[in-house]
Order: sequence, then structure tokens, then C-alpha cells
Amino acid sequence: MDPGRFVEEQVRSVSSSVQGRAIVALSGGVDSTVAAVIVNRAIGERLLAVYVDTGFMRKGETERLSSMFSGLGLNHRIVRASDEFFDALEGESDAERKRVIIGRKFIELFEKEAGEFDAEYLVQGTIAPDWIESGGSLRDRIKSHHNVAGLPREMKLKLVEPLRDLYKDEVRLVARYLNIAVSERQPFPGPGLAVRVLGSVSREDVGIEREACAIVEEEIEKAHAEGKIEALPWQYFSVLIPVRSVGVQGDVRAYGRTIVVRAVMSRDAMTARFSHLPPEVLENISTRITNTLGRSVTRVVYDITNKPPGTIEWE
Ligand code: XMP
Repeated sequence: MDPGRFVEEQVRSVSSSVQGRAIVALSGGVDSTVAAVIVNRAIGERLLAVYVDTGFMRKGETERLSSMFSGLGLNHRIVRASDEFFDALEGESDAERKRVIIGRKFIELFEKEAGEFDAEYLVQGTIAPDWIESGGSLRDRIKSHHNVAGLPREMKLKLVEPLRDLYKDEVRLVARYLNIAVSERQPFPGPGLAVRVLGSVSREDVGIEREACAIVEEEIEKAHAEGKIEALPWQYFSVLIPVRSVGVQGDVRAYGRTIVVRAVMSRDAMTARFSHLPPEVLENISTRITNTLGRSVTRVVYDITNKPPGTIEWE
């Protein structure tokens, strides 16, 4: 794939197909940022980039991204909607329904923003594995990626998905070609930490998961910078699972939760192998998580499952 030619073709195609105004659902990941930059090249001021803070973002993410969007010259708006997302998910523990609820909420908010901006089009950074895994007439549904399965049947906005036929490594090629800072960034699922807290989602649990996830990222990136890990894993994060176990904190009994550490190598997310992280790095992660999260987390485990048979995320 020639990234220069791809960009040129997409800019041309978007310029001719998008007549009015558009909004882009911008998450700050590689996919949506590349989609936004391409459409911005095609229609400029007629594009509004909307970033929704769902309350399921990583530590410091919203602040970091808002300065990146300004740097990219994108006309953008940050919508803080964590209360709405937590309320919508109240009492829901089924993974598939959580995704669909989140997808619908996103669309509801984007439709509102689109109405105010007078937009007729919705740009998304959907890539090939998203719709392949969400199932079509010939395929089994593995999981409903929120940007595919959350879409209502009668959505008023017309969809624009310039990256629909690309795989992740191809999107990165395009991102490098466009000089986008997040080109090497690991993927982060649209439903965010809500699918990394297994089962029903509370503010407290998302807080625990957010802290653990930041520790996993920091320790792995530090080990990479110090040469203890040759290549950064393709994706690395934590998952909070609803399993409690007995532990000791000081000399007091604790009955806390379990954090799973997940790190995988992959090319396109369709298959993955667990990363063989050095024991020293795993130990640093475990010690920091239990020290920082005190009595809430009494156990840290490492996931050694490949995809297939597992998936990368736990939900
Ligand atoms: P799985 O868990 O299916 O994940 O092996 C494959 C890749 O997709 C990401 N992922 C998602 N991305 N919405 C997204 O935008 C989702 O609902 C979703 N579920 C998984 C996952 O992080 C991995 O990179």
C-alpha cells in the first residue's frame, strides 16, 4: 500500500462525496485521528472534530489530547459526558450490551453536536477488523465493536469511513506519512476502561482500573526505554476482574480484587501472542499496583493466552 496515494485518493473521494458539513468522532487514537486529518484536508472548516470524555478514558488522556488536537489544526470540541455514560450503564453487566449502550450514547451525543453544527455527515475511524469482528451475513459475531454495532438503524447522519478497508499496520503507515504524533500509539478500545472493568461498571472500579492501567503502561515504557524490553508490545494494559482473594496488607487481612496484566504482540489485532515480558518487569508492575492500590487490589496475575483462542481484551 502506498500511503501517499491512499491519502490523495481519499481526500479526492471525500471532497466529491461530502457536500455539506461533517463532524468526526475523534477519540485521539491512530484510526480516528488519521480519519480526521484526511477529512480535514478535504473539507477544512466544514469539519468539526468532537471528542467525548466518557469517563472511561485513561489517566491524563483528555488533557493530553486536547493539546494534540489544537496542534493538528483541527476545529474541535470536547464534550464531558461521564455522568451520562455511567448512568446509561447502571446495572448492566453483559459485555455485548455494554458495548451497544456505549455506542448508542456516542451516536446520541454526536447527533446532538451535529445538529448544532448543522452537519449531515459523521466521519468515523472504523477499520477492517472492527466490522469483520462485528459480524456480517457470512461471519460469526465475535464482539460488537461499538462503532459498528452501536449504530442505530435509522441514523440521520450519513457515514464517512475513509479507513474502512485498512488494517492497523496500514493505518500506521498512513499516520507516519501524515506526520501524526500518535502514529505509534497502542490501540485503545472506543468503549475504553468500561470494557476493562469486567461486568458492571462503577466509578470506584473505573478509578482502580485507570490507576492500574497507568502503572502497566509506565512500567513497560520505562523498561523499554532502559533497554530491558527490545520492542514495545503491540498493546499493553490491565483488566479489573470481579474475583476477590485473601491477602495481607502490613499484618492485616485484606480481601481485595484481582488485576490482570495483558501485553500482546500482533500485526493487525486479528491474531496475537502474549508478550514474554521479563520477570523483573512483571514484578515491578505487581509491586507498584499492590502498593498504590492498597487494600483494593490483593492480587496481580499475568495473562498468557494467545488470540485465538482468547481475544486481546477480556470483554
Ligand atoms: P479483541 O479483544 O477483539 O480486540 O481481540 C482487537 C482490537 O480491537 C480493540 N477493541 C475495540 N476497539 N471498540 C474499539 O474501538 C471496541 O468495542 C473494541 N473492542 C476491542 C482491542 O483493544 C484490540 O486492539
